[in-house]
Amino acid sequence: MTADMNRQWRVARYPKPEELIGKAHFEWTSEPIAKPADGQFLVRTICLAPVPAQRGYLEKSHHSFLENLAIGEVMRGRGVGQIIASRHPDYPEGSIFVGSLGWQDYSLQHPRGAEFVFSTKKIKNPLRPLSMELGILGQAGATAYFGLLETGQMKAGDNVLISGAAGGVGSAAGQIARIKGAKQVVGITGADEKCRWLGDELGYDATINYKTENVGERIAELFPDGIDVFFDNVGGDILNAALGNLAMHARIAICGFIATDYSPGPHHGPINYQCMVYKRARMEGFVVFDYWDRYAEAEQDLLNWHNEGLLKNTEDEDEGLENMPAALASLFTGGNIGVKILRVSPDPDVLPQEKFK
Ligand SMILES: NC(=O)c1ccc[n+]([C@@H]2O[C@H](COP(=O)([O-])OP(=O)(O)OC[C@H]3O[C@@H](n4cnc5c(N)ncnc54)[C@H](OP(=O)(O)O)[C@@H]3O)[C@@H](O)[C@H]2O)c1
Repeated sequence: MTADMNRQWRVARYPKPEELIGKAHFEWTSEPIAKPADGQFLVRTICLAPVPAQRGYLEKSHHSFLENLAIGEVMRGRGVGQIIASRHPDYPEGSIFVGSLGWQDYSLQHPRGAEFVFSTKKIKNPLRPLSMELGILGQAGATAYFGLLETGQMKAGDNVLISGAAGGVGSAAGQIARIKGAKQVVGITGADEKCRWLGDELGYDATINYKTENVGERIAELFPDGIDVFFDNVGGDILNAALGNLAMHARIAICGFIATDYSPGPHHGPINYQCMVYKRARMEGFVVFDYWDRYAEAEQDLLNWHNEGLLKNTEDEDEGLENMPAALASLFTGGNIGVKILRVSPDPDVLPQEKFK
């Protein structure tokens, strides 16, 4: 749909540590659709991607990926949209644009410098569905790509373990590990349905349901020679269990910590970190934004793999801007399989410079 007014979700209050983020933390407002000034262009939102880090923008003292938001600000969020009015010669009407659109129907945008942490760009050859620009061809894919191959230094023949395996980043990381010739790819997730999907659809060799199985025992069974690369999306007890089962010179890529960061605790440090000494292991955190200058490299590989049928688009789509808080909440209750996408309006019938089918 196309709204007459610009509907928006604004920050209403910060969640307490034990609170699940949701509708109560946002205010649903609307205002007239803005007109672009010189150098600006107006983008109509097509889809948005809720991500766990968005909870961190609503915490006063949080060490977040990006600066926190003030009460009353439009909620920050990455999305894909179409330029519908422009006063910038390089961003003509009709172009498809990806960037920080916010939780709203329309946003005024302008070109950003290379130093801008949240990469914004006109997509020259958009593919259908456009939401892939937020998933395997976007932030989820790039996070998996650089985290696994750069931070994790994954090589053919490695035994790879991935937590949060059925989520947006995790589902891309497992597929990339397969493509890059891992000896074994094991995924940890929180539902039997997700375990089956990882095996049947994404080619995982084995899975662990952390809610019903003893994670440490299962890792020990599945990795008799130890884990070479652990791509960790969740932290907490799962990280500790993995640290107790490392191979010599293991690499642990710390991508996220949803198990500890957004729940009240108490949380204990991973006591098995001492195994890193015995195993001469390396644990390193990374942030995907640090790699934006190399993003073209990832994008080309991800696109080639997708076109070759090796990398599946894994989307879990909800509809309606009004449902954005619920879509974000679902990430914290395991409500998504693959990349969570919120559709705000349909993909356009005609895509500019459409090149790939
Ligand atoms: N470092 C970076 O640059 C970077 C960039 C993007 C994302 N990230 C991080 O990567 C992680 C994945 O992000 P995403 O966008 O792809 O989200 P996601 O994995 O699609 O969604 C979150 C998933 O986390 C799992 N989960 C929720 N609570 C959990 C808990 N207490 N213990 C274990 N698992 C839990 C749920 O799946 P189950 O059903 O399996 O529980 C849920 O589906 C997040 O931690 C995010 O902050 C980091």
